[in-house]
Amino acid sequence: MNFELTQEQQQIQKFAREFAEKELLPGVLERDATEDFPMEAFQKFGQAGTYGIPYPKELGGTGGSYLSYILAVEEVSKVDAAFGISFSVNTSLYGGSIYNSSATDEQKKRFLEPIASGRAIGSFGLTEPNAGSDAAGQQTIATKDGDDYILNGSKCFNTNGPVADYTVVYCLTDPSIGTKSMAAFVLEKGMPGFTVGKVEDKMGIRSAPVSDMHISNVRVSADRMIAKPGEGFKLAMKTLDGGRIGVGAQALGIAKGAFETARKYMMQRQQFGKPICKQQYLAFKMAELATEIEKAELLLYKAATLKEEGKPYTAAAAMAKLTCTDVAMKVTTECVQMLGGNGYMKGYHVERMMRDAKITQIYEGTNEIQKLVISGGLFR
Ligand code: CAA
Repeated sequence: MNFELTQEQQQIQKFAREFAEKELLPGVLERDATEDFPMEAFQKFGQAGTYGIPYPKELGGTGGSYLSYILAVEEVSKVDAAFGISFSVNTSLYGGSIYNSSATDEQKKRFLEPIASGRAIGSFGLTEPNAGSDAAGQQTIATKDGDDYILNGSKCFNTNGPVADYTVVYCLTDPSIGTKSMAAFVLEKGMPGFTVGKVEDKMGIRSAPVSDMHISNVRVSADRMIAKPGEGFKLAMKTLDGGRIGVGAQALGIAKGAFETARKYMMQRQQFGKPICKQQYLAFKMAELATEIEKAELLLYKAATLKEEGKPYTAAAAMAKLTCTDVAMKVTTECVQMLGGNGYMKGYHVERMMRDAKITQIYEGTNEIQKLVISGGLFR
């Protein structure tokens, strides 16, 4: 067991931290109000190779470790959790769908390289109005037509949907046999019949664009199929295992960002003739939060390391996601309290972090679903 980060991991962590401070912090409050996606910053961060960290060089990635990628998500999320989820969906869910699939190397390179190099943005089309926690309840259908498929249906809550160049769409080829026919295709912006629907107005992660995606008679050539009928559900599940570590990293970043804001505030803020960190009740509360953060970090880095080493990590990813996101909610709520009236005001960031934290307990499998996944492995 080694608790030291490698030099490569430390370098990526430092790069992401400096990028977040310089490029994300200045506009983060404004973007929270306007919901504007920081396209320029997103492209700049990606062009440094960040979105391809966990993928091999032959497929356009940078051949780094999964933990390096996780550290980068965590660092940007300390400052801007909306950026963190756009990054994570891009790399873990879009990139993971391609990389984990049984597609040919030629297909993988074709669909992964533009994303890994930061030239294009990816999104993940699994959730539908009637297929949320029950991901098997897909109603998007792909019908064979000569060498092509015709896709019809719709997706919702699609993170990056409005800005995505590429979207992995999960669908059924034979509804009579359900998930046994689930397949996946890569659709591209501008394909006739593939359009962005309602863009959501959200409580948090406001500058991460989330929308419906409409799929109406979209003709897709078979070389865009990355999961053959019957492979799609397992591909989605496997990909979500990796995605849940990404959401854990986003949540841990939020928790650490709020904790650091409160820690600094408590050393400055004077009440009753001394800094409030000298009040033992508040100092002890911070001690508890520091311990929670440490616990979450250990679970998260362990899950990322298991994945990197090719060991089973489904339950570890679910535990990391469950813990990091619950810790993020607890820490941000306590930090708002710690800053008192100021904590409730937008300029101090912690109220935004508290709003951002909430969704981490919901997406990429609610925390109730994580308990289902963890308990499912206990009684086999
Ligand atoms: N890896 C590989 N295969 C897996 C797997 C995994 N992690 N989990 C399940 N499978 C396989 C099973 O082994 C089984 O295979 P067999 O048929 O060969 O036995 C098959 O998949 C079906 O498994 P289950 O019976 O367990 O499937 P289920 O229908 O009961 O569903 C579930 C299980 C865990 C509840 C699943 O539906 C689930 O994870 N739901 C949550 C969905 C979710 O996370 N959605 C997130 C949307 S994306 C999002 O939020 C992105 C965003 O914008 C930020």
